Amino acid sequence: MSRRRLPLSLRRRAVPWEGQRPTWREARPALIAGALKRARTRPSGNWYVVGASRALRGEGKLAGTVAGQEIVVWRGPDGRPVGGPAICPHLGAPLRDSPVRCGTLVCHWHGLALDGNPYAGWSPLPVHDDGVLVWARLDAVGGEEPLDAPVVPPRPEPSRALTAVYTGVGVCEPEDVVANRLDPWHGAWLHPYAFVDLTVVDAPGDPAGAMDDGPDALTVDVSFKVAGRIVVPVRAVFTAPGPRTVVMRVCEGEGAGSVVETHATPLGADGAGRPRTAVIEAVVAVSARPGFAAARRAAPLLRPLVRATAGRLWRDDLAYAERRWHLRSTGRFPG
Ligand code: FES
Ligand SMILES: [Fe+2]
Repeated sequence: MSRRRLPLSLRRRAVPWEGQRPTWREARPALIAGALKRARTRPSGNWYVVGASRALRGEGKLAGTVAGQEIVVWRGPDGRPVGGPAICPHLGAPLRDSPVRCGTLVCHWHGLALDGNPYAGWSPLPVHDDGVLVWARLDAVGGEEPLDAPVVPPRPEPSRALTAVYTGVGVCEPEDVVANRLDPWHGAWLHPYAFVDLTVVDAPGDPAGAMDDGPDALTVDVSFKVAGRIVVPVRAVFTAPGPRTVVMRVCEGEGAGSVVETHATPLGADGAGRPRTAVIEAVVAVSARPGFAAARRAAPLLRPLVRATAGRLWRDDLAYAERRWHLRSTGRFPG
């Protein structure tokens, strides 16, 4: 059994932050830019992630903007997700504030009731619930050839998985979020509280090329910090299956098979005309042991993975993405 396969390991000695190996020479701007450019040419079929499926439980709804378009999604009378513009066709009430009653969205200004079918000038949008995330298709925004369903990356069986969805918002464009994820080299430098011993073992253009995951896959060996010198070493592969999506799949180590899907959804401009982008990240974590009970027993080991991908990391990663956008928009981005 290789060292990498042990779920936990103890680092022999702590290397000070400044003593770790610099990664900037390997993190070549042209390499990241090339991977980003190719990601942006992949089809999305005009589907945008709008939030977590859990939000639609009971009489819940999801509301927000996609490229400035106000939309709302809820479960219709037959339980299927329905949605469309969040501007009431009568006098324009914000339907994001309207309640759902028995599958019907009831406008809180004058009671116009929508069940997801075209009505009184209101037209639905295609929506899709993949069990973890909810998507909406906006053809006028995307401008691509529409697809019947979104490109949902392969995920572990949900019944044996721990699922969590994180949402954050930054002043940047989706490409800045994707560029951040296509630079795994920053991991142990920018997030020293979460990662150590990060090595990119395969990157686009390397002769060894990770054939299984396509020529653009980035393979990373990294340890998640649990406590003190206790770490969980894993090998993970990053791919960008769509123009606004980056997937990290753990392929070796505890939690092998787990995926972290990062989706960037453009929200539209803020009051100052700057672009806002939502990061909607789904963690679907599994243990190698089958069965939901086993997955729950493995939770202490999976939790570092889940936690490492949530709040604190994205505070730094959104700062990275916002910085990138700021420099791009003022013509000063060095990459
Ligand atoms: S604005 Fe919605 S019913 Fe009047
Ligand atoms: Fe990061």
